Amino acid sequence: CAPALKDRHGRTISYLRISVTDRCDLRCRYCMAEQMTFLPKAALLSLDEIAIIAERFIARGITKIRLTGGEPLVRRDVGDLVKRLGRHIGAKGAEGGLNELTMTTNGNRLAEHAPALVDAGMRRINVSLDSRDPDLFRHITRHGDVARVIDGIFAARDAGLAVKINMVALKGWNEHEIAPMLAWCSDEGLDLTLIETMPLGTVDEDRTDRFLPLTKVLDELKAQFPLVRDTHDSGGPARYWRRADSGTRLGLISPLTANFCDTCNRVRLTTEGILYTCLGHDDQVDLKAILRAEGLPGLDAALDAALLSKPARHDFDIAAATPAVARHMSVTGG
Ligand code: GTP
Ligand code: 5AD
Ligand code: SF4
Repeated sequence: CAPALKDRHGRTISYLRISVTDRCDLRCRYCMAEQMTFLPKAALLSLDEIAIIAERFIARGITKIRLTGGEPLVRRDVGDLVKRLGRHIGAKGAEGGLNELTMTTNGNRLAEHAPALVDAGMRRINVSLDSRDPDLFRHITRHGDVARVIDGIFAARDAGLAVKINMVALKGWNEHEIAPMLAWCSDEGLDLTLIETMPLGTVDEDRTDRFLPLTKVLDELKAQFPLVRDTHDSGGPARYWRRADSGTRLGLISPLTANFCDTCNRVRLTTEGILYTCLGHDDQVDLKAILRAEGLPGLDAALDAALLSKPARHDFDIAAATPAVARHMSVTGG
């Protein structure tokens, strides 16, 4: 067996997030500017290159892969990638295997893709839904149609996928919808994760105006719902609570108010083949260049070297005049 990927802070890396495209068919205001410059298609890894890199990661102990974007379902060959990576689910032996292959999507094209995702072995999926109000949803996403996304969520659920809703908590925009969203998720058999807005890339908004600390949100939810701490660990950054009455799980991702970097288990591969070892820093290695110049043998040494320089933690400051890093969340897929 090839040695596991460890960083110099003693953390083992078992979770790879792959951004399969930086493009998106929405323009969420906390994520993107209205006008975005996307990568030229020629700069992207081919499907085969993504799979080769992912398979090397699997051989090095990665057990969970999440496909992200941008919006992963806008990449035309994403279904083939899911099928290829799906073959590693449950595999044992020297080449390693996945416990989980999953995806984070905006839900816009989910209805058409859900059955194929299930066929490839996917069991759960995270879908962004910041509001169920058609006008507010349109405002936040600039282009979105909430009915279409909710259809996608129901289609995924009906196809057999467990669905977790991701809701970025936004002061003055959707804060009044958080408690109703938790109630709706319970009614529909979905889980809910709330996320603090993070300072990545320049957007047309001042993020400070929208920042809502989840410490405050949790206090308010506890007054309305019987929430108990849940030890569930999805292998991501969320800390979980559970509604004692319905069993619905509530995740909180609080990078600003409760840092979780000491248990970080993940790295990110961009659609250009860059490996970022932290969401909040620019430390990177160009795996595409190494793969093309040296082939597979070069990859192992590059992964070890990259991990040695993985930063201890991010230094997000929502009130800073400039974002912590210039690249948008859509480049690294969160
Ligand atoms: P689960 O597997 O369900 O736990 O999902 P996940 O939280 O790992 O993935 P998802 O794509 O749903 O991400 C939810 C939010 O968590 C997004 O806003 C991500 O940007 C954020 N996130 C994921 N990993 C990290 C991280 O290492 N650091 C920070 N600051 N945010 C992260
Ligand atoms: N801060 C927090 N969450 C973000 N997302 C996108 N940009 C940001 C940001 N700046 C969320 C999306 C999606 C997930 C992948 O990341 O809403 O749910
Ligand atoms: Fe697209 Fe997701 Fe960014 Fe919204 S948050 S613009 S859906 S990548």
